[in-house]
Amino acid sequence: MTKDKIEKLISQLTLQEKIGMIHGDGFFTTRGVERLGIPPFKTSDGPRGVRKDFENDAWKDIGLSYDYVSYLPCNSALAATWNRELAYATGRLLGKEARGRGKDMILAPGINIMRTPLCGRSFEYMGEDPYLVSEMVVPLVHGIEENDVAACVKHFAVNNQETRRLDVDVDVSERALREIYLPGFEAAVRRGEAKGIMGAYNKLRGTHCCHHDYLLNDVLRKEWGFTGITVSDWGGVHDTREALMNGLDMEMSVTSDFDAYYMADPLLRMIEDGEVDKKTALAKIDEKVRHILHVMNKLHMLDGERSAGGYNDYNDKAALRQTARESVVLLKNDKNTLPLDRKKVKKLLVVGENANRQHAPGGGSAEIKALYEITPLMGIQMLLGGNAEVVYKPGYFNEDIGNIWANTGDSENGQADSLSQDSAAAQAVSEEKIRRQKEMNEKYLQEALEAAKDADAVVFVGGLTHDYDTEGQDRADMKLPYEQDRLISELLRVRPDTVVSLVAGSPVDMSAWLEDVNALVFSWYAGMEGGMALAEVLFGAYNPSGRLPETFPVSGRECPAVALGEFPGGDKVSYGEDIFVGYRYYDTYDVATAFPFGYGLSYTDFVMTGIRAEVIEDTVESKEVKVSFDISNIGSRAGAAVAQIYVADKWPKVKKAAKELKAFEKIYLEAGETREVTLMLEREAFTYYDEASHSFKADAGSYMLLLAKNAEEIVDITEIEFAL
Ligand code: BGC
Repeated sequence: MTKDKIEKLISQLTLQEKIGMIHGDGFFTTRGVERLGIPPFKTSDGPRGVRKDFENDAWKDIGLSYDYVSYLPCNSALAATWNRELAYATGRLLGKEARGRGKDMILAPGINIMRTPLCGRSFEYMGEDPYLVSEMVVPLVHGIEENDVAACVKHFAVNNQETRRLDVDVDVSERALREIYLPGFEAAVRRGEAKGIMGAYNKLRGTHCCHHDYLLNDVLRKEWGFTGITVSDWGGVHDTREALMNGLDMEMSVTSDFDAYYMADPLLRMIEDGEVDKKTALAKIDEKVRHILHVMNKLHMLDGERSAGGYNDYNDKAALRQTARESVVLLKNDKNTLPLDRKKVKKLLVVGENANRQHAPGGGSAEIKALYEITPLMGIQMLLGGNAEVVYKPGYFNEDIGNIWANTGDSENGQADSLSQDSAAAQAVSEEKIRRQKEMNEKYLQEALEAAKDADAVVFVGGLTHDYDTEGQDRADMKLPYEQDRLISELLRVRPDTVVSLVAGSPVDMSAWLEDVNALVFSWYAGMEGGMALAEVLFGAYNPSGRLPETFPVSGRECPAVALGEFPGGDKVSYGEDIFVGYRYYDTYDVATAFPFGYGLSYTDFVMTGIRAEVIEDTVESKEVKVSFDISNIGSRAGAAVAQIYVADKWPKVKKAAKELKAFEKIYLEAGETREVTLMLEREAFTYYDEASHSFKADAGSYMLLLAKNAEEIVDITEIEFAL
C-alpha cells in the first residue's frame, strides 16, 4: 500500500473511529474499523513465549486448549549465550507462534539495563552492558518481525526497578542515559527496525515515560527515525494532554473501562470543550493513526497477505535446546569434579526443590502456558536412561509464599491489581507459614543428609523461583531463600564433592559456601528444554559455553546503585553512580566481585594470544580498526569460547570507565584447533557522550585494546593511536 492509500484511509475515518484505534478496547486489543477493512490491532505478552489468552475485559484465563506455546529461555539466559544466531532463532520462533496465535504485536523483548541485581525483572532483561544488549536485541527483533509480527521493545526508558515502578522519578545524567540506558533501544530501532516501542511506567526527570516529549518525540522519532508505534505500558498513561501531544500512539491499560481511558472519551471531551486547539489535536490524532496504519501495512494486515504461523519445527526445536545449553554458565570446577561420569554413577542423589519445579507459569506478565517443561530432574533421569538409580529429595521446603504480583486482592490474575500495588507490603508472610517452613526445612534437610551418605554423586539444584524473580517487586537482598545456604553448607560438609547448580534469573549471594564448593553451575529459566540442557552439561554431553551477562557481586550491598547512587530511593531515585554501572564500576573502583561480567568456564582450555590492530580509517566522523588474534583449543574436547575485546582510553579527557566491552565473538573449536579471528571496531567503540555538544565524541589519542576472557581476565593487549 502506498503512502497515498494510507492518507486516503485517514481521510475516510471519523474522529470516533480514529479514537478507537489509539486506545485499548480490550486488555490486549484496539478497535478495528470494519467498513474500511482495518482490523483490530492484537497484542500479547511476552518475552518468554506467547502468553495465554484472557477474556477481553476480565483478567480471567479463558482456559483455551490451544494457547499452549513454546516456553523460550528468558532474556538473561539468552544473553548468557553471547550468541547472536541463537537470539535470531529465538525471535523467529517467538514471531512464528505469535503469528500462529493471530497476534500482531508481541510485547517483547525487555531490554532494561540491570542497574541492580535486586530488580525483580532482571530475568526478563539482558544484563548490564549496553553493547551486549544491542548485539543481542537486533537479531532477536529481526527474528520476530520476519513473521509479520511487530516486536515491542520495552520498557523505554530507565525502568530499572520494580519498587514504586508506577511513579518513581528517575534522575540520571544525560551522559549515563545516552551511554548506558538508551543504546539497546537505539540499536533495536536503527539496526533492528523494530516496529514497536513500549513506554516505561516510571518517570524520567519529572514526566511519565509513556508521554515523555523528549524521549518519544525528540530522541525516538527525530533522532533515531522511528516509524513504528509507541505503546504505553499497561496503565502507564496519566494525562490526556501529554498523551496527545508527547508522542504516544496507543494507550493500553489493565482496567475494563475502555472508554474512560485518557485517549478515549476524555480526549474527545477535551476537543469538544475547546480545552485544546482543535486543529492541533486532530493533526496529532492523525499522526498516531498514520503510525498505526503504517505498521499494519508493513505487517500485511490490510492486504490479507500475512505470512503463515506455526509451532516449532525441527530447526526451531534444535535451536531452542541449543540456546538452553549455551546459556548454562560453569562457575567453578575445581578438581575436575564435572562432568560426572555417567558410567560410574550408579546411585545419584538429586537434592533441591528447583530440580522438580516448573517455572513457566510464573513471573508476572512473562508467564507462559508451556507445551512442556523439562525439569532438571526429568532431564537427569532421561539422560541416565535407567542405568542409574536416581533418588530425589527436596532438601528445602518451598511452600509458595506468593509475591505481590500473585497476592494482591482476590482476583485471578495479579495484573488486575497491578496499578494499586504497594511494594512496601512485599512478601508479608504469616508467622504460621514461617514456623511451618522452619519445621519442614529441618525434616527435609535431615532426609537429604541421610540420603547423601551412600550416593555415588550428589547434585543440588536450588536457586530462586518466580516468587523472587518477578514483576512488581524487587528482592530485599541477594540471599538464597528457604534456608538453602544452610542446606548447601551441610551437604558440602558430609559430601564435599556435592555439585551445586542454581536455577535463577538474577545473581544470588553465594558467600556462605562459595569457598567450599568444587563444582558450581548457574542455569537460568532456560525454557522448556532447560532441564535437559542442564543434565547434558552435568554429565558432559554438552561442553558449557555460557558467560555471565552481568557481574555477580559478592552480596549486592557493594553494588554501585547503592554505593554511589540510590536504590530503591523514594518517590525519586538518583542514579548517582552515573556511567559506572556493572563492571564499569567494579573495575574502575577496584571492588571485588564473586564472578565478573563475561565469566564462564569450559571443560576444555582455550589460549588467546597475539592481538594486533590496524587503524584503517581515522577521520573525525568515521573510524575503523581491524583487530585480529589467535585462539587455540588446547584441551582434549571440542568447545566454544567467547573472546571479548574491551577498549580503554589511555589518557581520557573526561572521566571514563577503566574499560568497556566493544566487540565479542563466540568461537567453536575442535580439540587442538587454532584459528585466527578478525573483528572490526568502528567509531562507536571509542566515543563518549559529550553533554555540552549533545553528541558522541571520539577524542584523538591512544587507546588500548584488551583481549579478554572476562572483565577481570585480560590475556593480551595492543595499542592504537588516533590522530584526529
Ligand atoms: C508490564 C509489561 C507487559 C504489560 C502487559 C505490564 O504490567 O510491565 O511488560 O507487557 O503489563 O501485560
